[in-house]
Amino acid sequence: MKVVLEHLTKRYPNRDKKKKTEIIAVNDFNFEIPDGKLIGLLGPSGCGKSTTLNLISGLEKPTEGKIWFGEDDVTGLPPENRGVGLVFQNYALYPHLTVYENIIFPLQNLKGPDKLTKEQMRERAEKVAKMVQIETLMERKPSEMSGGQQQRVAIARALVKTPNVLLLDEPLSNLDARLRLQTREEIKRIQQETGVTTIFVTHDQEEAMSISDMIVVMKEGMVQQIGKPQEVYDLPVNLFVAKFLGTPPINVFEASVKKETLYIGGEAVLQVPGIKDQEVYAAVRPEGFVPDENGALSCHLIAVETMGRDTSVVCSHEKCEAPQIRAIISSENAVRISGGTVRFSLKPHKTFIFSKETEERLDFLK
Ligand SMILES: Nc1ncnc2c1ncn2[C@@H]1O[C@H](COP(=O)(O)OP(=O)(O)OP(=O)(O)O)[C@@H](O)[C@H]1O
Ligand SMILES: [Mg+2]
Repeated sequence: MKVVLEHLTKRYPNRDKKKKTEIIAVNDFNFEIPDGKLIGLLGPSGCGKSTTLNLISGLEKPTEGKIWFGEDDVTGLPPENRGVGLVFQNYALYPHLTVYENIIFPLQNLKGPDKLTKEQMRERAEKVAKMVQIETLMERKPSEMSGGQQQRVAIARALVKTPNVLLLDEPLSNLDARLRLQTREEIKRIQQETGVTTIFVTHDQEEAMSISDMIVVMKEGMVQQIGKPQEVYDLPVNLFVAKFLGTPPINVFEASVKKETLYIGGEAVLQVPGIKDQEVYAAVRPEGFVPDENGALSCHLIAVETMGRDTSVVCSHEKCEAPQIRAIISSENAVRISGGTVRFSLKPHKTFIFSKETEERLDFLK
């Protein structure tokens, strides 16, 4: 089912009497979530991710704006009538119930024509349990299972009512790295199998990038950018988005443009046709550095770390915001690097220029 957010806004009163301003948790969010897609909602702590999910689920009422499920305006509907499946951050299973009882819990209060017989409930529960591969654990209690298994019970419980929309709020946060990786693949698989429109909240950019059809990057209640993960990575609209995506992170330099040439310190590092003279931030992805004896960007070499196929060149530059620059180059190119200085040329499509004033990306002809 398609989900449309229209000027969705949530303001909370500020309890701090001295500050009269309200807290704007979600600020004018507009987005049409296509049917059957997995959307990653991404941003730092406090940026409004959970509030957005709670608005979509109906647990919170918006201050302004509307929510549509398909052609229906659901803004005034209570959560139980929206057909959403929710998995909370702390997956909240009932400890005294078995896995089976936990899964069928949302089915037990169905009334009228939706009411199910015991056999129908068992059938549904077994189907979703199989899907998340916990069908052999049905008689266990939550305390008798691993974190990852509990997580999957929570997902099964959210799926058992065949929701129109599945909302997952940091569903992997309590898992160790390995299980996290495994479970996120599983979520992707389940999502594709069921075709349910899914919103997946995380503050882990790598997680969002790896499983989402589209990502939404938020900051302080405001949507910064919406797009396919690779598109957002390749063309971040502003410095915030550029810094938020990518591991190792992007390398940001104080720079300036003079006569359509980008200068870092005194060095002319790139031609940037179409950009007016001004102070800027130049941001270079780790894979944007090319070791080059005649390269214009001269950095102080700190360490060369080879990791199989790739080599990480750790260096520094006085104009770089961070104390260390991390350049990722192929190991073949690393052989030549030694001594105190390393010179790079920059790949134009891996280098972004942001206005110092607005921090928005300035496009140059590449
Ligand atoms: N009931 C409330 N009353 C007042 N302010 C609130 C309330 N709930 C959330 N906020 C504020 O709204 C903002 C967004 O909160 P939200 O929980 O949506 O963030 P989040 O992106 O989910 O963060 P996290 O990654 O830490 O879970 C925060 O500044 C938070 O303090
Ligand atoms: Mg949250």
